[in-house]
Order: sequence, then C-alpha cells, then structure tokens
Amino acid sequence: MSALKDGSMTETNEKQDTQQELDLLRRNLDLASQEINRINRIKPLANAAAAVVHDIRNSLGVISSTAQFVLNKLSPGEKERQAWELVTRNVESIKNLLTGYLGMARQTEARRESCFLNDIVDRVSHFVDARARKQGVKVETDLARDLPELVLNIHAVETAVLNIAINAIDAMPDGGTLKFATRAEPARSEKRVMLDISDTGPGIPPEIMDKIFMPFFTTKGQGTGMGLYSAKAAVENSDGELACRSRPGETRMTLSFSALVSPRSSPDKPK
Ligand SMILES: Nc1ncnc2c1ncn2[C@@H]1O[C@H](COP(=O)(O)OP(=O)(O)OP(=O)(O)O)[C@@H](O)[C@H]1O
Ligand SMILES: [Mg+2]
Repeated sequence: MSALKDGSMTETNEKQDTQQELDLLRRNLDLASQEINRINRIKPLANAAAAVVHDIRNSLGVISSTAQFVLNKLSPGEKERQAWELVTRNVESIKNLLTGYLGMARQTEARRESCFLNDIVDRVSHFVDARARKQGVKVETDLARDLPELVLNIHAVETAVLNIAINAIDAMPDGGTLKFATRAEPARSEKRVMLDISDTGPGIPPEIMDKIFMPFFTTKGQGTGMGLYSAKAAVENSDGELACRSRPGETRMTLSFSALVSPRSSPDKPK
C-alpha cells in the first residue's frame, strides 16, 4: 500500500518537474520570439537610417566644399573667416558623428594615425562645453602628463568620446559635473592609456546595464540608441576596450588602449 503511495508520489513529483521545465521552455520561447520580432521591427529602420545618413553625408560634402571655397577667397585677417571656419569644423563633426552612428568606423579601419588621447579630450571638451553649460553642467578635465602616444582611428575614437560625453550631459538635465580624466597604467608587456568619462547623474539602472551597448537600445524619446553601440565598435576597431561602471550618482565609461610608443617627454627611449 505504502509502496503504491510512494510510487504515485514520485510520479506526481516527476509530473510537476516536467511541467516546470515546460513552463520554463515556454517562457524562453516567448522571450526568443519577442527578440526576433524586435529585430525584424528595427531592420527596415536600420536600412532607412543607412540611406538617410548616406544622403546627409553627401549634402554635408557640398556644404563643406562650398565653405572651403569661400574660405579660400578670404584673406587671413578677415573677420568672416572665423564664422566660415566654424561652419567647416561643425560640418566635419556632424560627418564624423554620422560615420560613427552606422558603425562605419569598421570600413575606415586602415586610417589609423598617431595621436595623444589628451588632444582628443581637449577637442571634445571644448566642443561640448557650451551645451553642458546651458544645463548647468560643469566640465572638468584631469589630464595626466607625459602619456604615451597612441595609434588610433582618431575621428572614430573622437566621435565615440563625443557620444559618451553627450550621454553624460543628457543624464544631468538639472546640472552636475562631467569629468574627463586620463591616466596610464603599466601592464606586463605594454603600457595602457585610459580615459575615464564620468558624470554625476542618476546612474544606469542595473536591469538595463547589459542592453546599453546593443544597437537601437534607448530610453530616450528622441534617441536612436546607436551612440554606445557605435562608440564600442569604434574603440574596439582601434584595438581598445570600452567598459562601463555605474551606481546612483556616478556613471563612468572607461576607454583603454595599449600604447606602443614611448612618452612624448622621453624621446630618447626606443620607439
Ligand atoms: N551616462 C549615462 N547615464 C545614464 N544612462 C545612460 C548614460 N549613458 C547611456 N545611458 C543609457 O544607455 C542608453 C543607450 O545609450 P546610447 O548612447 O546608445 O543611445 P541614446 O543616447 O539613447 O540615443 P542617441 O545616442 O542616439 O541619442 C541610453 O538611452 C540611456 O538609457
Ligand atoms: Mg547617446
């Protein structure tokens, strides 16, 4: 009798286990089909975006060469030069931004040049300063001296830094601090040069942390969700790494690259 009872209990337990496994499988299947639907939904959008970016880049090319034409007509001292130079610089920035957006950095991989990370920070921090100040965000820089030179796709990495800085500013609508800090860390066989871009915003909620680098993931009404995806692609295409740490009150994105050449201050060291 009791053996019979035990037997039916085991059967009941097995049935329960099978049911639980089935439920789990069903939930996973639901998640997978939701993901497939999401990808199918964004595919046409991605294709349309690529076409739009292509056309905008062409028009920017016309604006850029026209501005260059006017600049060539103006003599060095003329006041209008500054305005036209501003136009040229900003057109270039938009072109670089668009290049980054579509992960086009991949195609320009061959165009690597020697540069100093501090120079990239200088340019980006100046570029975002007005936008930051408008919403009460203070821009601070803490740049290590004598950092080794890097060999990077400068435009792509600069656009990545810009995208990250804009995210940081977006995260502080009521003000705060955006900080750029560079440092070098000696590793066993190479020196690594790092850039931390941090903000004092609310932080990235843990539940979305694993999604922020996915294409088209955004929590902003007007966002494309391509900023961090293309930033990561650009950094990795220059053999660097992009990592994120966040908690309420501080989000820090860290770019790190390996330095292959000697510091600027030590020209006697072998290159
Ligand atoms: N510094 C930050 N603080 C808080 N959340 C952030 C920060 N940086 C990124 N995020 C989160 O990561 C998401 C993805 O960022 P990403 O730059 O890829 O796209 P986006 O900023 O939403 O859109 P876009 O860059 O096209 O304007 C953001 O929508 C936001 O939720
Ligand atoms: Mg962004």
